Amino acid sequence: MNHQSEPTRNLALELARVTEAAALSAGRFMGRGDKEAADAAAVNAMRLVLGTVDMNGIIVIGEGEKDNAPMLYNGENVGNGSSPDVDVAVDPIDGTRPLAFGRTNSLSTVAIAPRGTMFNPGPFVYMNKLAVGPEAKGAINIEKSITENLKAIAKAKGKAVEDLTTIILERPRHDAMIAEIRKAGARIRIIPDGDVAAALMTSMPDTGVDVLIGIGGTPEGVLVACALRAMGGEIQGKLYARDEDELRRGREAGYDFDKVLTMDDLVSSEDVFFAATGITDGELLKGVRYFGDGARTDSIVVRGLTGTVRQITATHRLDKLDHLGSIHY
Ligand code: FBP
Repeated sequence: MNHQSEPTRNLALELARVTEAAALSAGRFMGRGDKEAADAAAVNAMRLVLGTVDMNGIIVIGEGEKDNAPMLYNGENVGNGSSPDVDVAVDPIDGTRPLAFGRTNSLSTVAIAPRGTMFNPGPFVYMNKLAVGPEAKGAINIEKSITENLKAIAKAKGKAVEDLTTIILERPRHDAMIAEIRKAGARIRIIPDGDVAAALMTSMPDTGVDVLIGIGGTPEGVLVACALRAMGGEIQGKLYARDEDELRRGREAGYDFDKVLTMDDLVSSEDVFFAATGITDGELLKGVRYFGDGARTDSIVVRGLTGTVRQITATHRLDKLDHLGSIHY
């Protein structure tokens, strides 16, 4: 790779503007029962601000294929076209349902990494995941049973399996995993949606969450890998096919469903930037607060090379922003 095109500047702060804009726009739709309108607002705002960022980006993880996604589709060019050349992963809303139905833990997120370094799941979007924080990094192995992993995590963290808190999406496909966790004796947080926030919680102090277990989106897994590069945690995954037909199509397309996807497979560079802004309240990030002419957002921005994790509370003057740009918050 051309050294000069590597994203050496701290683009994370620029990315915070991107997720702030998406959260400010989408936050208006909290509890209004309209997932599509919320998503459209987030995508539109995110795309407009991404266009101002100094980068020559290609969306690797986006809203889907061009035919189905008018904006932020996989393969779309984003940024103002200047150096560096980067891969871009976006999830304008992780937790669209919780946002639309007024529940917690929805956020907006984006990550960038040098061109060609992000895993591209194509249409095979489910992945079995195991994610832990820094103390248990190196102790997990997704090829082993949940029980063995819980023992290893407990040992690494100097506590008993009974002291561990696991977090898992509430899905019928997880019934057997939940039964195994219960048998092993660990505690469980069962969440309706939002495994990006859940995975990041493993690596933030005071959340009380030790490990994310279960099958969720592969795009979300790539975003989490970018964040954990800086936060010192670890995620491992394995592509998951929902049925025989998906498995066959995946294999024909060259995807290996038996391969363990390590951090290096999910994003092969340390030189990553990640940002997330809360839309509805969560343990990781506060949701957007609107007051008269202003609003407040709560974001986290991280840089892989330095390991710096910044938490940014921003106050926005919506009356001024309305004059400046084409996004109406
Ligand atoms: P979206 O808001 O983008 O739909 O994602 C929410 C989410 O809960 C993710 O956090 C998770 O990875 C995925 O959905 C799980 O997929 P599914 O809801 O199909 O089980």
